[in-house]
Amino acid sequence: MDHVYTLLMLIVSCSVFCGHVPAPINLKIESRHFIHLLTWQAGPGSPSGLQYRVIFRNYKNDWKTVDNCTAVRFPLLCNLTDVLSDLEITYYINVTAVSGNKTSTPSSHPPFIPVSDTELEPPPLQVLPCNLSLCVHLHSPSERLETVYKKFTYQLNVTSNQGHTVGSAVSNICMTLII
Ligand SMILES: *[C@@H]1O[C@H](CO)[C@@H](O)[C@H](O)[C@H]1NC(C)=O
Ligand SMILES: *[C@@H]1O[C@H](CO)[C@@H](O)[C@H](O)[C@H]1NC(C)=O
Ligand SMILES: *[C@@H]1O[C@H](CO)[C@@H](O)[C@H](O)[C@H]1NC(C)=O
Ligand SMILES: *[C@@H]1O[C@H](CO)[C@@H](O)[C@H](O)[C@H]1NC(C)=O
Ligand SMILES: *[C@@H]1O[C@H](CO)[C@@H](O)[C@H](O)[C@H]1NC(C)=O
Ligand SMILES: *[C@@H]1O[C@H](CO)[C@@H](O)[C@H](O)[C@H]1NC(C)=O
Repeated sequence: MDHVYTLLMLIVSCSVFCGHVPAPINLKIESRHFIHLLTWQAGPGSPSGLQYRVIFRNYKNDWKTVDNCTAVRFPLLCNLTDVLSDLEITYYINVTAVSGNKTSTPSSHPPFIPVSDTELEPPPLQVLPCNLSLCVHLHSPSERLETVYKKFTYQLNVTSNQGHTVGSAVSNICMTLII
């Protein structure tokens, strides 16, 4: 009986002390208006007290740890907005669970390109009367996004209350449209 008990203890303690650290699952980036929030879930069978480390790289740099996400406990979230600073390149992102000096295998997010994987917001408009016309000024939503918003073209449609299109124009962000 004693042997069985010892064996059981060994099995139980081994699952805790010498087993694998389960890798995180369900990595997702919720990205709206160039704010990128990475979330994930603990892998099945994860013990409590795991910490998570987020690393990233692009095609020209080596892996770097995200400063604010070296030991994430709760919530399982990492704000990548500031680190994915080049909006038009591909980034690779891995998350690893850490328990003491043991780590899980890394889990990765599919390659992420800020400009194509974010949900874009339209540029703020300023509409002013000018000389019996309407002048429409387009802006980028923030200074940080100016370069990328300048690269898009914009279709502007003007509709009446009844839903009829009364005018339309195509422009880039630097332009003031006169309708
Ligand atoms: C880290 O988090 C703090 C507080 O949330 C924030 O002020 C800071 O900008 C973040 N730094 C980076 C590099 O994301
Ligand atoms: C993420 O970081 C960005 C830029 O630092 C900040 O504007 C935003 O509020 C942060 N969001 C969260 C949920 O921390
Ligand atoms: C990991 O931590 C355990 C317990 O703290 C220690 O006995 C062991 O030597 C450490 N292993 C390494 C490779 O640092
Ligand atoms: C990142 O994750 C990928 C796929 O899971 C793996 O092949 C690669 O070795 C990982 N790199 C690092 C530095 O964790
Ligand atoms: C308004 O009309 C005047 C005279 O035709 C012209 O000089 C001026 O540039 C116009 N202003 C705008 C904003 O188009
Ligand atoms: C704006 O007008 C163009 C051309 O008439 C049309 O193809 C497009 O679907 C319209 N967009 C919206 C948002 O109404």
